[in-house]
Amino acid sequence: MMGRQTAAAPGKLLLFGEHAAVYGYPAVGISLDRTLTVEVAPEAEWRFCFGDRAPCEEFDGEYGDFFPHLEAVARDAGRAERCGELRGHVLISSDLPIAAGFGSSAALCGALARLLLPGNAPVDEIWSMAHRLEEFFHGTASGIDTGLSVLGGSRVFRFTRDRELPEARPLSLPEATIVYGALPRERTTRELVAAVGRRLEDNPRGTREILDRLGAIADDVASETVWGASTLGELASRAQELLRDLGVSSDPMDRLISAGLDAGAIGGKLSGAGGGGAYFFVCDGLESGRRVMTALQRNDTGCTATDGSAAPAILRIGP
Ligand code: PMV
Repeated sequence: MMGRQTAAAPGKLLLFGEHAAVYGYPAVGISLDRTLTVEVAPEAEWRFCFGDRAPCEEFDGEYGDFFPHLEAVARDAGRAERCGELRGHVLISSDLPIAAGFGSSAALCGALARLLLPGNAPVDEIWSMAHRLEEFFHGTASGIDTGLSVLGGSRVFRFTRDRELPEARPLSLPEATIVYGALPRERTTRELVAAVGRRLEDNPRGTREILDRLGAIADDVASETVWGASTLGELASRAQELLRDLGVSSDPMDRLISAGLDAGAIGGKLSGAGGGGAYFFVCDGLESGRRVMTALQRNDTGCTATDGSAAPAILRIGP
């Protein structure tokens, strides 16, 4: 019998292109320096646990259905035997906030795909398997989260009709300090995407214009002509205004963005589907980033650690 098997995968921060990506525009994102780790200890039955404490916290029923899905994906990929060897106690530990918009489910799927596939499997195969696994959590996942988790780095994703997964080109970003975190989510991604769809039906011209402008911003960043934290920050703030006009921001998010800008951030926006959720600010250097972070911590947003919010953290980006 095999011993314990471990794999880790990072989370992601979506930078530009959310919602516009649903209508064919590119999306830009970066993998985080925080990871989710899976440790599998063979046992007769599958079970999920979370936490690095002993005894760890067992996930309740809803995730139990994941295992038949995992076995079906492994079988389709010709990895049924390997999956059988792995069956057991899946212990998840993470310094990546869970369910806060940072791709924790994609990281889980990326780590499991690495355990299921041979060590020399091409990354595209790992991505493809992670994507299929993620369907359990997201129904129709775009492939961006698993792409950033499996491929790493900063990337631009472009969608084509003929391929299931988008093209994922490495992207060079200007040097900047990013402050990111998350507010509690008021609406799900599915609800927010549907709300934008209804808005497009009710007001095709106005909504199309907003989506076109959001897409143009993502295109600008993707073209690598954005060279400097100040341009990146300005584009973030412009995108935030458009996302607000699209109806996917929220009052707490708007207040938080103002607080960050007042504390000296160059620009900031929500990240991902919105309705609360993840956000980021672009700052000019570490000192400025720390000031913004302190201001956000002081700003009472009414979040608790268990409601899907995440305390602000710093990420350095650059070529
Ligand atoms: O909040 P997230 O990570 O689920 O981001 C969703 C991004 C959308 O563009 C709103 C949807 C998508 O699938 O591209």
